Amino acid sequence: MNLKGRNFITLKDFTPEEIEYLLNLSADLKAKKKQGITGSSLKGKNIALIFEKPSTRTRCSFVVAAVDEGGHPEYLGKDDIQLGHKESVEDTARVLGRVFDGIEFRGFKHKTVEDLGKYAGVPVWNGLTDDYHPTQILADLLTMKEQFGYLKGLHFVYAGDGRNNMANSLMIGMSKMGVHFTILAPECLWPVKELVELCQGYAKESGSTITITEDCAAVKDADVLYTDVWCSMGEEEKAAERISLLRPYQINKELMNQTGKDTTIFMHCLPAVKGYEVTEEVFESGASVVFDEAENRMHTIKAVMVATLGD
Ligand code: CP
Ligand code: NVA
Repeated sequence: MNLKGRNFITLKDFTPEEIEYLLNLSADLKAKKKQGITGSSLKGKNIALIFEKPSTRTRCSFVVAAVDEGGHPEYLGKDDIQLGHKESVEDTARVLGRVFDGIEFRGFKHKTVEDLGKYAGVPVWNGLTDDYHPTQILADLLTMKEQFGYLKGLHFVYAGDGRNNMANSLMIGMSKMGVHFTILAPECLWPVKELVELCQGYAKESGSTITITEDCAAVKDADVLYTDVWCSMGEEEKAAERISLLRPYQINKELMNQTGKDTTIFMHCLPAVKGYEVTEEVFESGASVVFDEAENRMHTIKAVMVATLGD
């Protein structure tokens, strides 16, 4: 499998085989790191990390993963560069592409990361936009493989804001990998029709299903219950409205019990606002694998950089 020179902007651009390859590479790099073995595949590579929005996991994962492989990461915060203020995205992309070997972008408009990818001439990786968060999905898929040993045929229910970057990206990733995927959300927070139809096509090919519903009975048989914050970065003014809309969709002990399986795991991309989208009880329970997901961000981001840029 050769992914050299490829951008990583959404999982729409990757086949199930390519995603599987990245997951296997992640598991391999993780096992090596546990034995104290790091690589040198990014030796001599300079990596720009552009962050318009804050980050704990994604930023730290890119930094540690790059250094582990011998690369040099450079953090560029929102007030550090001219991007989008004094200089167009297209020009910034061409400048950074001359100086750096790879560029990570986290920010608001998805079009910004697309334009960086179009004009930089070096691999561009999406570290989260308003619409998509694809590196998180690799970490989630790796965590599910570790927990269950397989992906195809698992039942995955995402409860909460059904049209945010996580819901969109999970729908793409799960439908491609043959995981039955449900969004449990009030209708006003359902994903856009075009994306649902696209993912229904992926689901058809992989033999899985997509369900979008307001009915909490849909958690029956779920292997995974997943949630995310009710207000994503940049939507803080919507807090009161979201709390009243999403209160019935909180992941709590009762909802976990309604799956009818004692093997259901709880997942969350983090950061979590406990007491809202998930109770402290579920978050801290034995069913919760949230810190495995957080750790797996680093191993999967390393795999993306090694596969697209490494020697
Ligand atoms: N899950 C995630 O992307 O976390 P950060 O916002 O801390 O990077
Ligand atoms: N939907 C969340 C994800 C954080 C990792 C946000 O965009 O803030």
